[in-house]
Amino acid sequence: MILIIDFGSQYNQLIARRVREHHVYCQIEPPSISMAAIKALKPEGIILSGGPSSIYSKGAPRVDKGILDLGIPVLGICYGLHYMIDSLGGKIIGSTKREYGFAELLVKKQKGMFAGVNKRTQCWMSHGDSIGKLPAGFTVTASTDNTPIAAAEDVQRNFYALQFHPEVVHTKEGKKMLANFLFNICRCKKSWSMKSFINHAIEEIRQQVGSQKVILGLSGGVDSSVAAVLLHKAIGKQLTCVFVDNGVLRAGEAERVIEMFKKNLQINLRFARAGQLFLRKLKGVTDPEKKRKIIGRTFIEIFDQEAGKIKNVKFLAQGTLYPDLIESRSAFGGPSAVIKSHHNVGGLPKKMNLQLVEPLKHLFKDEVRLLGKELGLADDVVWRQPFPGPGLAIRIIGEVTAQRLSILRNADTILLEEIRANNLYYKLWQSFAVLLPLKSVGIMGDQRTYENILAIRAVTSDDAMTADWAQLPHSILARISTRIINEVRGVNRVVYDISSKPPSTIEWE
Ligand code: XMP
Repeated sequence: MILIIDFGSQYNQLIARRVREHHVYCQIEPPSISMAAIKALKPEGIILSGGPSSIYSKGAPRVDKGILDLGIPVLGICYGLHYMIDSLGGKIIGSTKREYGFAELLVKKQKGMFAGVNKRTQCWMSHGDSIGKLPAGFTVTASTDNTPIAAAEDVQRNFYALQFHPEVVHTKEGKKMLANFLFNICRCKKSWSMKSFINHAIEEIRQQVGSQKVILGLSGGVDSSVAAVLLHKAIGKQLTCVFVDNGVLRAGEAERVIEMFKKNLQINLRFARAGQLFLRKLKGVTDPEKKRKIIGRTFIEIFDQEAGKIKNVKFLAQGTLYPDLIESRSAFGGPSAVIKSHHNVGGLPKKMNLQLVEPLKHLFKDEVRLLGKELGLADDVVWRQPFPGPGLAIRIIGEVTAQRLSILRNADTILLEEIRANNLYYKLWQSFAVLLPLKSVGIMGDQRTYENILAIRAVTSDDAMTADWAQLPHSILARISTRIINEVRGVNRVVYDISSKPPSTIEWE
């Protein structure tokens, strides 16, 4: 495995992604990690990440210097390089001007990190400080116009230093450079796959849980579904899943979850039908944040009640992913991360005095999907479009009522039928309907109508941080509109949302 020390760079997760793309396992740890913990990980190589600090500034993050005495290859990137050079007796100087963006890299030695890399290649710089003097034993291996020491190495001691960022796509041959580090320098093997992960994870879950009972809040989404199946494989009937029907689910969703988990997979499932309670609590509420809070709190209440019915539960399992884990701890913080509460179950562990089991906490989303496939889950689960915890309540503008929910569900069902029938479901990040309880005049047959407006939202995205409205073919939009107006009582006008994120968001509330 490769250990990545997190000095706070915005590109940290990218380094991890790149390493794993080469089928090598890696873990990101804060600089406060102890030498004992580092040794226990048995890394074959260490990457010191970049970071926003200047090495001589107050509070600049530092890792135990012993990390440079382990005889393990170390790659320092940007701030990581500054840390390494400074620790080994070299000198870092503050530049008068920041270098940010593309630069042409002149490779002096096409060996080691640069084996097979072109003599002139494009790299991506993002730094203020740079190397003033190299420690004894180091030689310069590449430079740019502005940065005479853009890369350096000490082959004897296996230290490698890059001022630019090999992990970003703008460094054209960055992938090759990282592969050189992993395979030629660290001698890693390509052993990281979801197949190998499963056995390892099962062993870990069993060790952590022993013969105790575990509960898991199932939402029907990919993360909690994959976590449930993995846990079930590890501990079978010691696991109980709790599914709460909060009354604001899509049509058929509760039945789908029961069918899949209880009937097909024979997982212990407690099903709490609490729709009426949620609706009562949402009565008269129009503010989006209030709706979200009410749904969150009520969920916890119901989940707590259900869990109370199972004796001797000691663990709460969650489908927390690696980005959640990394983002939840400060870059320079201690090793015991403050766990970011997962959307719907936030606040639960504390209230219920349970320990957390988070078997997916070292995986990225695409790896969870691969894991789901490996565990035999259907595409429909693995590639399911995201659905928010507060559900349809944040897709009805204004008060949530049973009647409005029924209108929205019917329209949403038609929309999804058409999206699937036209092979668009897996191409879109999300596609859904939003009910605007605004009335407009229409004509049906010879009758005047005065009914609601329904908006269609369909977006493409990689990670929901940004999103583009999908350019759906007009013929499909036309069919969706005609079907909804003809088939759904209470809607006489359909509009298409043509706003991107930012400045809009994906959900309307
Ligand atoms: P926005 O609307 O902020 O949404 O652009 C970004 C992504 O997050 C989903 N979303 C949620 N997911 N609980 C969830 O589990 C929530 O409260 C929640 N709110 C938004 C949204 O569907 C989109 O994929």
